[in-house]
Parts: sequence; C-alpha cells; structure tokens
Amino acid sequence: MSTAADAPTQGNGRANTPAGPCAVVMFGVTGDLARKKLLPAIYDLANRGLLPPGFSLVGYGRRGWSHEDFADEVETHVRAGTRTGFDEETWHSLREGLRFIPAEGFDDDEAFRRLGETLDDLKTQRGTEGNHAFYLSIPPNSFETVSEKLSTHGLAHRSKHAADPWSRVIIEKPFGHDEESAHELNVAVEKVFDPDCVFRIDHYLGKETVQNLLALRFANRLFEPLWNNQHVDHVQITMAENFGIGGRASYYDGVGATRDVIQNHLLQLLALTAMEEPISFDADHLRREKEKALEAVQVPEDLDGSSARGQYTSGEVHGQRITGFLEEEGFDPRSTTETFAALKLNVQTRRWAGVPFYLRSGKCLGRRVTEIAVMFKRAPNLLFTETDEAEFGGNALIIRIQPNEGATLRLTSKVPGTTMEVRDVDMDFSYGRSFTEQSPEAYERLILDVLRGEPPLFPRHREVELSWRIVDPFIKRWESMSEQPEAYAPGTWGPEAAHTLMLRDGREWRVPA
Ligand code: BG6
Repeated sequence: MSTAADAPTQGNGRANTPAGPCAVVMFGVTGDLARKKLLPAIYDLANRGLLPPGFSLVGYGRRGWSHEDFADEVETHVRAGTRTGFDEETWHSLREGLRFIPAEGFDDDEAFRRLGETLDDLKTQRGTEGNHAFYLSIPPNSFETVSEKLSTHGLAHRSKHAADPWSRVIIEKPFGHDEESAHELNVAVEKVFDPDCVFRIDHYLGKETVQNLLALRFANRLFEPLWNNQHVDHVQITMAENFGIGGRASYYDGVGATRDVIQNHLLQLLALTAMEEPISFDADHLRREKEKALEAVQVPEDLDGSSARGQYTSGEVHGQRITGFLEEEGFDPRSTTETFAALKLNVQTRRWAGVPFYLRSGKCLGRRVTEIAVMFKRAPNLLFTETDEAEFGGNALIIRIQPNEGATLRLTSKVPGTTMEVRDVDMDFSYGRSFTEQSPEAYERLILDVLRGEPPLFPRHREVELSWRIVDPFIKRWESMSEQPEAYAPGTWGPEAAHTLMLRDGREWRVPA
C-alpha cells in the first residue's frame, strides 16, 4: 500500500490530503459503471492511502447477497480493474467496511430502514462519524424516489453547522433528457440536499488532460494573446470512439450521441476552451465563468444547416465484423437514435464572435480519440510563393484529451533544400515523455473530491440546464422530422452530412493522427 504522499497531486494544486471519516452508499452497485469504474476507483483511492482507515462502502441493490457475497463480488471487479495493483493489506482493511442491503427496488422502505441501521452501526464499528455520500449510479427517473426515501428515513439531511455530520449526493449522468426534466430533477434533489452537497458527475472533468486545459490557457503567456477571433479561425472538438453500442443498447436507444456525450462532455470542453480566466479555481469562480460561456452560446436559426447526424451500419473493420446499430439485439430497426452527431455553434462574446465551434462525436468511427483543435487563421502568404497556396498551412494547437495525452503545436517550417518551400511540422508534448507522475483515473479524483467536499469539478444545476438549452432545439428538430439519420460505415469518420457541414464553410474536419 502506498501513502498519501506518494499519490498524484490533484490538478487544483491543493495538497493531496486524504478524506476524513465517512461511508459511501452506492445505488446501482451491480451496474456496468460500478463494476468497471467505481469499485476499482474506490479501491485505488484506498491503495493510495487517500481513504480514512474506517472507510465503509454500502451497496444497495436487487440481489439477495450477504455482506460476504458482496465483498467477493467487489473483489472480482477490483482485481480486474485496479490501476495501482492488488494489495492484500489494503484489500483486507477495505473489505472489513463492506456491507450490502438487499432491496426489492428503489422505493423499498424496509431496505431503507435497514440501510439506516447499517449506517448507525458503521458509525460505532468503523468510526464513520455519520458522514455519508450517496452515489446514485441509477437511471434518472429514480433520482427523485431515492432522494425522497433518504429524506423520509432521516438519512439525508441539510447541515446547519459546519461541525454537523455531512450528507452529500453524487449523481451520474444523464441528468434529465432535456432542459425541463433537468430542472425538475434539480428542484427535487435540492429539496433534500443542500445545493453545495449535490455533486453532478461529468467524468471528463476528472481527466488530467481536461484540467490541463486550465494550465495551458492560464499558466502560459503564449496563448492568451492569440485566443480570440483576431487569430483563431475556428475550433474543432472531437470525441470519437471506434466501438459500437455493444451491451449498452437498452440505455442508448432513445438517448443518442447528443444527449449521451455532447450535452455534457463536449459542452464542458467547449466551456473550458471559450471561458474567460476565473479569478480563482474556487468552485464558484470557475463555474461562473463556464456558465457565462455556455450562456453566450447561440443556437443557430438554421438547425439543419448547422448539424449532421448518422447511424453506423454493419461492416468489417480490420477484419472484425461490426453489427450495425439497428441490428443490435432488441432494437427497433426504425430507431431514429443517432450514433453520430455534429453541431456548429457560435459563442457570442467579444472574444469569439465569428469563430465557429464545431463539435462532433460518434460511435464506430476511425479511431478512439478525444481532442480539441484550435485552428488559427493562416498567415498571409506573401513570400513563400514556391508553396502551393492550398498547402500553405495554418497553425493549430491540438490538445489531446485521450489517448496519447498531450498537445501538439502545428507550425510551418522551411523544407530542407535550396528552395523556400514550406510545410507543416508538429511540436509535440506528451504526458508519457514529460512526466513520471501517474495520473489518477477520473473517477478516483472525482470521488475523492466529493469525500473532501471540494466542488469545483462538478457542474452545478445552472450549467446542466444551460447545456440542455443548447442541444434541445437540435434534438427537437430531429424528433419532429422522424427521419432515420444518415447511414455511415463503421471505421469511417461519420456520415457525408458531417463533411458537408464543414465544406459549406470552406473548411474540413481534421483527421486525428
Ligand atoms: C460516457 C458515455 O459518458 O462516456 C459513453 O455514456 C462513452 O457512451 C463514455 O463511451 C466515454 O468515456 P471515456 O472516458 O472512455 O472517453
């Protein structure tokens, strides 16, 4: 087991202090996310010495498990998903704090009563001091029920004094399915929990490279003078995945790329790219600047001319057979859910007026890559006449969120030889080469922040509603057309319409390297 001192430093520069006494109660603990990400993240935090000695984890779920069955289950997923290695000593002490509450559903009063008793017992047995984080990794239509039950059973409370035990709630996306439902959810959850105790997870904000956007922009002198419509031609934000829906078909149908990742991850990336410098990294200051940027996003009048959507078909990529989206088991073959979406948005501020932000995301594309490409205007080519005008490149800053985390600055340089021909070259920074420090997994950082009560990386309710306000008109327009999105072959960069969207503006999508 390592110590807190060995653990990676948090992006906000605060000392890497472990969480104080507490327990996490996880709803949806048998789900995919919990098994693949949350349980390993909790173990890795323990292994890094960042959880308190008496830390406890209570699973709530529709399984007839004993505490021991649950512990065996957790062990399987921890062994499969740990990034810090399986350590017997860490596991032994974590295992002692595992409990399971079998339940009939999310409205099972008897189960909530037993949960209350268990949390009381943990207070004395493990010294949790009555501090509880409730993790809702469940469908959004159950958020309200669980919050109400927690309140009725006296488990969630608003703290009146700083010394009182705390109760916090962690909410997974999707947070609603449009602005109105997100608002209703916000009201319901904040009826029970203090707004400061509601932690809405957008796991992109826990990524090292996303936080590095703040450092790149505000810890360097180089970029700020260029970060505006005088010098930037446009911005491309891409989140591409080279795999399909697989086992998530039941979640994804009716959701689609726009609700699944553009409303949250991509708009957060846009906000961090477009916002003004916050006066500090305090939650209030940072969120205020992001909200201002989102508020300034103008939804275009020509929704069709500013968007594209697609659905992947079946096909073969690198010799592997891909099942088309509509052929996935249990799917309506006329489903209009999009597996690819591209939007063109404008940020109406003095800094950004006239600079389009193009966002695209899709499943089954050419590669798995997330990047922000800030494409600068071309220099006037007065001297380098030996270079074809079309090849006279523009500078670009490519921030690689994942994989191969880092950034590339594209410059134009003289080609060696006797002529004054120029060509684009890359100046590259890669995390792997530049740092020996390890990045924690996004969920580790976010869970630790919740337990330490640090909210800057969690969007507050206004941000979530503003993001829905941006995507809602596109989604409503598509729904009103009830047409199937354009087909695209797996392994390509999406439907033809996405390319047309760019061509219309005399631009083209980058093909990520
Ligand atoms: C999730 C989406 O929020 O993010 C998934 O629901 C997507 O559809 C995933 O695959 C991607 O996360 P990451 O961290 O692998 O980019």
